[in-house]
Amino acid sequence: MAFTVYLEPSGHYFDIEPDETILDAALRHGHAFPYGCRSGGCGACLGQLLEGELNYDTNRPLPPTARNMPRGTTFFCQARAASDLIIEVKEIGAVKNLTVKTLPVLVQTKEQLADDVMRLYLKLPKDEHLRFLAGQYIDILMKDGRRRSFSIANMPRIDHLLELHIRHVEGGDFTGYIFDQLREKDVLRIEGPHGNFFLRENSTRPLLLVAGGTGFAPVKSILEHAFVEEMSQSMRLYWGVRGEADLYLDSLPQQWAQEHADFRYVPVLSEPSRRWRGARGYVHEAVIADLAARGEELSAFDVYVCGPPAMVRAAFAAFRERGLEEAHFYSDAFEFQAPKADG
Ligand SMILES: Cc1cc2nc3c(=O)[nH]c(=O)nc-3n(C[C@H](O)[C@H](O)[C@H](O)COP(=O)(O)OP(=O)(O)OC[C@H]3O[C@@H](n4cnc5c(N)ncnc54)[C@H](O)[C@@H]3O)c2cc1C
Ligand code: FES
Repeated sequence: MAFTVYLEPSGHYFDIEPDETILDAALRHGHAFPYGCRSGGCGACLGQLLEGELNYDTNRPLPPTARNMPRGTTFFCQARAASDLIIEVKEIGAVKNLTVKTLPVLVQTKEQLADDVMRLYLKLPKDEHLRFLAGQYIDILMKDGRRRSFSIANMPRIDHLLELHIRHVEGGDFTGYIFDQLREKDVLRIEGPHGNFFLRENSTRPLLLVAGGTGFAPVKSILEHAFVEEMSQSMRLYWGVRGEADLYLDSLPQQWAQEHADFRYVPVLSEPSRRWRGARGYVHEAVIADLAARGEELSAFDVYVCGPPAMVRAAFAAFRERGLEEAHFYSDAFEFQAPKADG
C-alpha cells in the first residue's frame, strides 16, 4: 500500500511505496531533495520527521554536521515509510529543473594519469545531452544492480562527453574492473546528474576549494565553469595528496594560475619527498596556516571541500571552529556504497 509524504515548509507532497526510501521516492517525483552519497555516510540528506512511522534500518551515527540537530533527525536516503509522513526538508532550487537520465555511454578514451588514477571520457548517444551543475556526479550502474558514484570533471557547457577521474581502490570490485578489464569502445550505463555539491553561482563571495586526491575532479568542473562564465571573485585551490606523483594533473591548475590573476593554487603533500619545497601536512591544516599567514578570515569565503570522508569531516570541524558558517560550507565525501545491492 502506498503512503503519502507531506513536505514542510513547501507544502508539496508525493506518494511513496513501502519498499523505496524517502529520498528515492522524492527524486522519482521530481522533488529537489539535498543528498550526496545515498548510503547513509555523508549526512547531506538529513532532515526532520515531524509525524508518522518509519522503517529505518541504519544504525549509522549522525555525522558531525548534524551534531546539534534535534530528535527526529533522519537520513532520508535510508528511511522508508510505514505510514503517511510529515517531514521537514530544505528543497534545493537550483537542481529542480534538471532531469535525471539513465543512458548508455561509450568509453571513448581510457587514460592512466597516475599509478592509481584513470581518466575516462564517456560519450553520450548521438543527440543526447546531460544537463548538470558544475560539481555534480553520476552513478555508473553495474550489471548486478549495484551502482558506483563518480564526479563529473568537465564543465557543464560540454554536455555530450563526460570526463571522470577514477581512483583505484584496493580490493575494489568496480574500480578494479575499470583498471584491469574495461576497454575503449565498451559501453557502460550511467544515471545522473546527482548531488548538491555544485557551484552556487549567485554568490559573489571569494571561493576556497579544497580537494583530496580525485576530489580534484568536481573542483576542476567548478573552476573551469567559473572561468568560462567570467566569475569575478577571487578563487583558490588547495589540492591535498600524499606524494608529488599523486598530483595527477598538476600542470592544469599551474596553467590556470598563470592565466587568471585572481586564482591561486596551493598543492599540499602529506608525504613529500625531500625535494619538495611547497606546503606539507594535512590539507585543511595547510589552508588554515596559509590564511593566517596572509591575514585572511575563513568566514569571508564560500568553501567547497571534496574527497575522502575523513578529510571532509576534519575540514568541517576545523573550519567551523575558525568561524566559517555552516551555510557557506559545501562538501562531497567520497563514501563507499553500502555493500548490499541498492538497485
Ligand atoms: C558522491 C560521490 C562521488 C564520488 N566521486 C568519485 C570520483 O570522482 N573519483 C573517485 O575516484 N571516487 C569517487 N567516489 C568514490 C567511489 O564511488 C568509490 O571509490 C567506489 O564506489 C569504489 O567502488 P569499488 O567497487 O571499487 O569498491 P568496493 O568494492 O565498494 O569497496 C572497496 C574496498 O573498500 C572496502 N570498503 C567498503 N566499504 C567501506 C567503508 N564504508 N569504509 C571503508 N572501507 C570500505 C571494501 O571492503 C573493499 O575492500 C565518489 C563517491 C561518492 C559517494
Ligand atoms: S547520508 Fe544520505 S545522502 Fe549521504
